[in-house]
Amino acid sequence: TPEALDTRPSHAGRHVLVTGAGNGIGRAIALGFARRGAVVGVADMNAEAIAETSALIAQAGFGRAVPLPLDVADWDAVEGTLAKAGRDLGAPFDTVINNAGISPKHDGKPHGVWQMDPAEWRRVVDVNLNGSFNTIRALTPAMREAGRGWIVNMSSVAGKTHSPIVASHYAATKSAIVGFTIHLAAELGPFGIRVNALAPGRIETPMVAGAGKVANDEQIRLTPMARLGQPAEVADTALWLTSSESSFVTGQTIDVAGGLYM
Ligand code: NAI
Repeated sequence: TPEALDTRPSHAGRHVLVTGAGNGIGRAIALGFARRGAVVGVADMNAEAIAETSALIAQAGFGRAVPLPLDVADWDAVEGTLAKAGRDLGAPFDTVINNAGISPKHDGKPHGVWQMDPAEWRRVVDVNLNGSFNTIRALTPAMREAGRGWIVNMSSVAGKTHSPIVASHYAATKSAIVGFTIHLAAELGPFGIRVNALAPGRIETPMVAGAGKVANDEQIRLTPMARLGQPAEVADTALWLTSSESSFVTGQTIDVAGGLYM
C-alpha cells in the first residue's frame, strides 16, 4: 500500500489533532508526535494547560504546536475550530487522537448509579463518547477525499472489565468506544483510513492522582508488571498505531496495561 511504502522519517508532514493534550496522556502523545516531526493541534478546554504543552513542544525543538482551545463536547466549537485550523495550516488534520476524557468522583470511593446526577451522566457521555464523534465527524470528509487518515480513540481497561476505581458512566463510554471503533474501521477501511483504540490500565496522570495511594496500590497488586504505567508508554503505542509500521492494523483496541486484564 502507499502507506507501507512511505519511507519518510515517522510522522513528518502529518497534521495531528490531539484532544485533551493539556495534561497527562494527551500531553505525552502531543509531545511524541511533535518529536516525530508532526504539526500538532493541541486541543484542550484548559488554556493554561495548552500553553504548557505548547511550550514543551517548542523546547523539544521538533514539530510545531497549534493551540486549539475547545470543548470537544461542543459540536459547533469543534467544527468551527477544526475548519479554521485546516485553512490556516493549508491542509486539514489527517490524524486524530481522541484522548480527552473525564472521570468524575475519581476518588477511590464507590459512586453508585443510584447516587448519580443525571446531568453528570450526560456530561461524561458528551465528553468521552460524543467528543470523539464530533472530531471524527468533522475530519472524515477530508480524510475520505484524501484516501488516507488515522484515528485513535481512547478506551480503557475499565471498558472491558469491572474496575473499582471508576463509575458506571465512565465504564459505559469506554465500552462504547470499542464498538464505535470496530464499526468505523469497517466503514472507513475502504477509504484508506485506519481506526483503532487504546485501552490503558492505570497510568500515572493528574486524573489518577485523585484516586489516592490505597486505590493505586491495589491496582499495582493486580497488575502483573507490578507498577503504574507512564503516559509516554501510551503515547508510544499511539505513535505505532498511526505509523506505517502498523499499516494492516485496524478496528483493534490495544491494551497498554502491564497485563492488568488478559
Ligand atoms: P487528565 O485528566 O490527566 O487529562 C485530561 C485532559 O483532557 C485535561 O487537560 C483536560 O483539561 C482535558 N479535557 C477534559 N475534558 C475536555 C473537553 N470536554 N474538551 C477538551 N479537553 C478536555 O486525564 P488522563 O489520565 O491523561 O486521561 C486521558 C485519557 O485516557 C482519558 O480519555 C482517560 O479516560 C483515558 N484513560 C486514562 C487512564 C489513566 O489511568 N490515567 C486509564 C485509562 C484510560
